Amino acid sequence: MTKVTEVTKVSEIPKNWKHIYSGKVRDLYEVDAQTLALVASDRISAFDWVLPDTIEDKGKVLTQISKYWFDQFQATLPNHWLREREADEVPADLAKRTMLVKKVEIFPFEFIVRGYLAGSAWKSYQKGGKIGKDIILPYGLRWGQQLPEPQLTPTTKAREKGTHDEDIPWKTVVEALGVDKAQIIRAKILKLFNEAARRLEERGLILVDTKFELGEDETGQILLADEIFTPDSSRFWWRKDWEAFRKNGAVGELPPLDKQLVRDYLEKILKWDKKPPIPNLPSELINQTRATYLELFRAVTGKEPSI
Ligand SMILES: Nc1ncnc2c1ncn2[C@@H]1O[C@H](COP(=O)(O)OP(=O)(O)OP(=O)(O)O)[C@@H](O)[C@H]1O
Ligand SMILES: [Mg+2]
Repeated sequence: MTKVTEVTKVSEIPKNWKHIYSGKVRDLYEVDAQTLALVASDRISAFDWVLPDTIEDKGKVLTQISKYWFDQFQATLPNHWLREREADEVPADLAKRTMLVKKVEIFPFEFIVRGYLAGSAWKSYQKGGKIGKDIILPYGLRWGQQLPEPQLTPTTKAREKGTHDEDIPWKTVVEALGVDKAQIIRAKILKLFNEAARRLEERGLILVDTKFELGEDETGQILLADEIFTPDSSRFWWRKDWEAFRKNGAVGELPPLDKQLVRDYLEKILKWDKKPPIPNLPSELINQTRATYLELFRAVTGKEPSI
C-alpha cells in the first residue's frame, strides 16, 4: 500500500475523514458509511508500479478531467460523483484534486475499450491475430490503425502490488455478473466510448483506448466509478499527427498525449525489466509529461485547469 501522498498535506484533510486505502495514484478516505473521498495525488505509475518521481499538478488534472466527463455523460450512465455535496463539504482547494463519491462495490474487472491498435493489443495481435482473450481481428492491420469497430477487451483487476491485469473472455464477465447486467454494461460503455470519441474528434483528438471501472450501490444501481477518459486511463493522439503518421510513420511513432511518454522511456530507452528497483525519470521527461497532461486538459475541455 502506498503512503498517503505528500502533496496533500494531512492538515488539508478534514478531521472526520478516515484514510482507508491508497491505490497507485489515489488516496481513499471514508467520509461516512456510504461516501468516499478520492484524493488524486501527483504519483505516476507505469507497468503497475508507482514511480519514485511525481508529476506536479497531475492529480488536479486527472480529477478535473473526470469531473468534466461525468458531467457530460450523467444521462448515459449515472456515476459515483456527488457533485452537490462536494461543493458543500470539501474545501475548495482540496476539491481541485478530490472527488467526493458514492461508495460502490467495484466489479472485479477493468472494462477496456479500444478503437485503435496500440499498446498491449498490438503486442497480442502480432503474436496471434487476436486482441483481448478472444477477439479475432482481420489479417494485415498495422500499428495505430483504426479497428473496424471499437472492441471491449475486459481484464481482471489485479490487487497485489506488482501483479498485472490479465485479459479475460467476455464470458467470464457474463458468468460473474449475469447476462442482463453484463449486457447493460456492454451497451452503455460502448456508447460512452463512441460518444466521447466523437466529441474528441471535434477537438482534433483521437481516443485510442480507455478503461472503465463500474460498480453497484446498495440498491443494485450500476454506477460508473473511478476516473474516466483521463490520460492515466486512456490513450490519446492528435488527429493531425495520426494523419501524418499514416503516410510515412513507423510503429510507435506517434506523439502520445498521455502516460505513454513515460512507458516508452522505461521500456525502449532504459529497457527496464519492470522489476524493482524502480527507476527515476529524467527531469526533462517529468516536465514534458506535465506539459502533456496540461495540453490534454486544455484540448479536451477548452479551459485552463484549476491548479
Ligand atoms: N465509488 C467507488 N467506490 C469504491 N471504490 C472506488 C470507487 N471509485 C474508485 N474506487 C477504487 O479506488 C481506487 C482508486 O485508486 P487508484 O486509481 O490509485 O488505484 P489503482 O492503483 O488504479 O488500482 P488499485 O487500487 O487496484 O491499486 C481503485 O482501487 C478503484 O477501484
Ligand atoms: Mg486507477
